[in-house]
Amino acid sequence: MAARELDEHNITQAVIERFANAPDARVKEVCTSLVKHLHDFVRDVRPSEEEWGYAIDFLTRTGKMCDGARQEFILLSDTLGVSTLVDSINHPVTGNITQSTVLGPFHTELMPDCKLGDDIHGNMKGEPCYVFGTLKSEDGTPLANAQMDVWHSDDDGFYDVQQMEKLGGPAGRGRFRTDKYGRFWFWTIKPTCYPVPTDGPVGEMLRGQGRHPMRPAHLHFIFIADGHRKLVTHVFDPTDQYIDSDAVFGVKESLIREYKECPPGAAPDGTVMKDKYVIITYDFVMAKAHGKAA
Ligand code: BEZ
Ligand code: FE
Repeated sequence: MAARELDEHNITQAVIERFANAPDARVKEVCTSLVKHLHDFVRDVRPSEEEWGYAIDFLTRTGKMCDGARQEFILLSDTLGVSTLVDSINHPVTGNITQSTVLGPFHTELMPDCKLGDDIHGNMKGEPCYVFGTLKSEDGTPLANAQMDVWHSDDDGFYDVQQMEKLGGPAGRGRFRTDKYGRFWFWTIKPTCYPVPTDGPVGEMLRGQGRHPMRPAHLHFIFIADGHRKLVTHVFDPTDQYIDSDAVFGVKESLIREYKECPPGAAPDGTVMKDKYVIITYDFVMAKAHGKAA
């Protein structure tokens, strides 16, 4: 029988009972769990009405800060570790497969098409960096002609999309295809650490939690190959001061790789460098799709 006297002890069950006729079993399951956890959270925190009002205002402002160019809700998910949790659930560590990590907001579908060996730094400033690697399937087969998107920040910690007027076009990003041996190589500049955007509710939250907003320096990669699960990942710089305190919890031990410092002279692709430069190499391994959607 429906309770008429609802209090903090019976309200949860009363709400869940209203889902009895939900046409979709998954919706019913998710909503039941949501209400259980949400009510337990409220019983635990025991908010004042002012605090409840602040929470509504915080979420309202977060929603208002979402459009085609800015997604404050994803940033909230990232900085609360939810994005990494969802990624870990959907891409558990198995065998030799390269670990995935968060996508972040700076990937765009407008990736300049590049040829292997191209220099993608555009008008970005920074130390020259030669990137070389391979792409293989989990069974060791080289993955030829796979699509590889790369993007990264500059020496000051900004992505091209944050400074298009200054740079005059895309920089530090490109779309490549692996060669017939599954190899890739290109030139760019060494990225540096940078803050996630802090001018919105998430910045307010980080300050309230006494946290810094920094991400350790990294290169972003997305690989797409026939018959394989899409791989969204980063390669991190171990010398970065924020390597153990990434604001979005994206760092994984297996994704950390040292840059090798090189003196002026002939680089591995034959380019003669007048200045010193760095080399980074990484061999990526993709999981077979096994009938799952990429
Ligand atoms: C990024 O790596 O580009 C990023 C990821 C999550 C939040 C903000 C930035
Ligand atoms: Fe990034």
